[in-house]
Amino acid sequence: MTARPKLVLENVSMTFQSDGKPFTALAPVDLEIPAGKFISLIGPSGCGKSTIFNIVAGLQPPSTGRVLIDGEDATGLIGRVGYMLQKDLLLPWRNVLDNVALGMEIRGVSMKEARARAMPLLERYGLGGFEYRYPGSLSGGMRQRAALLRTLLVDQDVVLLDEPFGALDAQTKSRMQEWLLQLFNDFGRTVVFVTHDVEEAVFLSDEIYVMASRPGRVIEKLPVDLPRPRDRAIVSTPRFVAMKKYCLDLLHMAEPADDLAA
Ligand SMILES: Nc1ncnc2c1ncn2[C@@H]1O[C@H](COP(=O)(O)OP(=O)(O)O)[C@@H](O)[C@H]1O
Ligand SMILES: [Mg+2]
Repeated sequence: MTARPKLVLENVSMTFQSDGKPFTALAPVDLEIPAGKFISLIGPSGCGKSTIFNIVAGLQPPSTGRVLIDGEDATGLIGRVGYMLQKDLLLPWRNVLDNVALGMEIRGVSMKEARARAMPLLERYGLGGFEYRYPGSLSGGMRQRAALLRTLLVDQDVVLLDEPFGALDAQTKSRMQEWLLQLFNDFGRTVVFVTHDVEEAVFLSDEIYVMASRPGRVIEKLPVDLPRPRDRAIVSTPRFVAMKKYCLDLLHMAEPADDLAA
C-alpha cells in the first residue's frame, strides 16, 4: 500500500499576459510529493520554479489545475505551507530573536511565547549569542539561518525554500547545507527546495524534479537513493558522481545552445 502523498500538483499550469500576448511560464505540471521527504526542483532561471512555489503557497492562482495538501484542495489557500521566498528579508528593525519569532507571531502566537519557543532553538542551531543582534550586522550565512528557522517555526508540515543558499560563497553554502540536513532530520517536515545547483540538489534530496524552460516544465523525476544521514564525503562516491552527471546531462540537453552564448 502506498501512503497518500503530502502535496500534489495536478495539471498545474500558468499563462501570463505579456504585451497583450499569452506567455506560458509553466506548461501543465504534475507532482506527487510524499510526506517527510526532501524534494528539489532544479532548472535554469526562468523555468517556473518560483511560479510553482507561488501557486502552492496560494499567492498566485494557477491558470489550470489544482494543488492538494493531504488530499484536500488547497488551491489559492494562503497559510497552508511555510514559504521562504527567494528574496526573503529579515526585518532590519527587529533583532534575530524577534525576526525568528515573527512567523509564529503572524500565526497568532503571543510574542512572549514565540520568543520562549525560539530562544532554545537559536542556541541549538548555531545562532546562540546572536539573539539580540540586528540583521545588518550579520553575515549572509547567519541571516539565512535566521530566515530558515523563522520559516520552520511556523509549524506547517510543508516547507518551501526558494534558492536559500543561492547568494552564499561556496564554503558557507556547504556548511549551510549540512545545517539544513540537521534541521530536516530534527523537524520531520516535508521540504520542497529550489536550486540551480546540481550538487546541492543531489546532496540534500530524496527526489529531484528536473525542469526545462520555454515553456517551463518538468522533464524528469529522479529518485536519489543515497543513504542518510549524509555527510560531505558522499560527494566523491561513484553513485553521487554518477547521479550528478546524469542530472547535468539532462539540464544541458534541455537547454538550447544559444542560451550559452547569451
Ligand atoms: N507576474 C508575472 N507576470 C509575467 N511574467 C511572469 C510573472 N512571474 C513570472 N513571470 C515569468 O515566468 C517565467 C518563470 O518565472 P519564475 O517562476 O520566476 O522562474 P524561476 O524561478 O525558475 O527563475 C519567467 O519567464 C518570468 O519572467
Ligand atoms: Mg525563482
